Amino acid sequence: MQPILTFLITKSKAFRSLRFRFFVLMMIVGLIPCFIMRKTILINYYDRAVSERTQGAMNQCRILANHLEAAGYLQNPDNETINSELGQFSSIYAGRIMIIDGDFLVVKDTYAMSAGKTIVSREIIECARTGTGNSHYDSRNGYIEVSIPIIESISGRTIGVMFASISTDNIEDSLSIFSRKSSIIWVITMVCIVLLSIWLSGYLVRPFARVTETIESADMGEYAVSIPDYTETEAIMDAFNKLMARLKKLDDTRSEFVSNVSHELKTPLASMKVLADSIRSADNVDSDTYKEFMNGIAEEVDRLNIVITDLLSLVKMEKSAGSLNIQPTELKAMIDVIIKRVRPLAEEAGISIEFEDKKDIIADIDDTKISLAIMNLVENAVKYNKKNGKVRIELDSDHQFFTVSVADTGIGIPEDSLDQIFERFYRVDKSHSSEIGGTGLGLSIARNAILLHRGSIKVTSTKDEGTVFVVRIPLKYVA
Ligand SMILES: Nc1ncnc2c1ncn2[C@@H]1O[C@H](COP(=O)(O)OP(=O)(O)O)[C@@H](O)[C@H]1O
Ligand SMILES: [Mg+2]
Repeated sequence: MQPILTFLITKSKAFRSLRFRFFVLMMIVGLIPCFIMRKTILINYYDRAVSERTQGAMNQCRILANHLEAAGYLQNPDNETINSELGQFSSIYAGRIMIIDGDFLVVKDTYAMSAGKTIVSREIIECARTGTGNSHYDSRNGYIEVSIPIIESISGRTIGVMFASISTDNIEDSLSIFSRKSSIIWVITMVCIVLLSIWLSGYLVRPFARVTETIESADMGEYAVSIPDYTETEAIMDAFNKLMARLKKLDDTRSEFVSNVSHELKTPLASMKVLADSIRSADNVDSDTYKEFMNGIAEEVDRLNIVITDLLSLVKMEKSAGSLNIQPTELKAMIDVIIKRVRPLAEEAGISIEFEDKKDIIADIDDTKISLAIMNLVENAVKYNKKNGKVRIELDSDHQFFTVSVADTGIGIPEDSLDQIFERFYRVDKSHSSEIGGTGLGLSIARNAILLHRGSIKVTSTKDEGTVFVVRIPLKYVA
């Protein structure tokens, strides 16, 4: 039984529903007080009935005891008046009366069974000794026993005991009638509570159903209307709306990216098409012109190649941090390699590259990705420099981070562009930049690589004076 119940509760959808839980809770809250109330009412009723009956019998006995004494009944048990009074009492209370004298001899027994015998029960002896009445309720056999002293009016001495044993049968009868009636009320109340619980639990969870409905019918990017039922459902809707806004932004960025990529790929293709068409349409092209056009086409192919390489790098960087290949890397050696690769480009423009490493630093990084990032910065420092300009690279570290700064004496970046240079495809001056050549992806790639390492990249620049990029990356990579 137990495993079946556990299974039902953990597996069945209905049992796991909030509505069902509410229902059970309301049933418990509603039924338990009802049950307790009914039980206490019945018990109280019974106790009260018994105590009232006991009290009534005791009072009646006291009156009779006075009559007995006054009539000297103990000496003369044949007194007709008293005997009829005793008879009346025993028939009203459906009980038995015994009159016992000072020697515990039964003078009179309305059941005529113990007359003439000696009675020594604890209650009777107690009553004779103390001169006060007592009562005893035997719930198992269903009777009340009452002992009342017979007191001589002149001396105040206890001269006998009046003992009555009365049945509680009729109390039980009326109790069972009462209990039956209250059972009917109880059943009706129970049905009402069950119905109310079903309705109320449904009512209470309705806002959640409304949330589901709204979310299901919401379109991409649409701000779903807020549902002000509960603070909880409102919070869910708010969170949902925020998520939708994030998704929409992501979607916008993606389509912008796709259109940028298409544009970047189409431009070289269009140039190639123009070049190819011109050769095709012209008659008698001499071999020099032919060569020139073919060079043009080759340049465009190179450009396409660069764009595609950059795009692939960017896609790689956008993967999760899990794709990092972290290894202890000697940073000085890594930067030396970068400088060696950029040097020919720098020498062409008469630009000098200085490198200062303050100490030997080994850091846990993905060296392909970080070296690509720094390579981009150094390349930019050379590309966007002036004739005979300078590039200065500094490598330093504290106990937690290493920093690489790349400073140049170049054309600088206008202040209003500083925020945008890390965006994909952004180039400060399209016309000027096109002769320099580039995709506008370098800094996005660099920044993504640095962020994957939980580092940061900052830029400061003065127009016509130069630019400084500072990269800060933790020495130890924490996943
Ligand atoms: N050191 C620099 N000095 C001046 N401008 C720079 C520098 N680095 C980057 N920029 C500006 O930021 C833009 C974006 O750089 P980047 O993402 O590397 O693209 P790309 O170099 O392919 O144009 C560049 O086009 C350039 O306008
Ligand atoms: Mg670049």
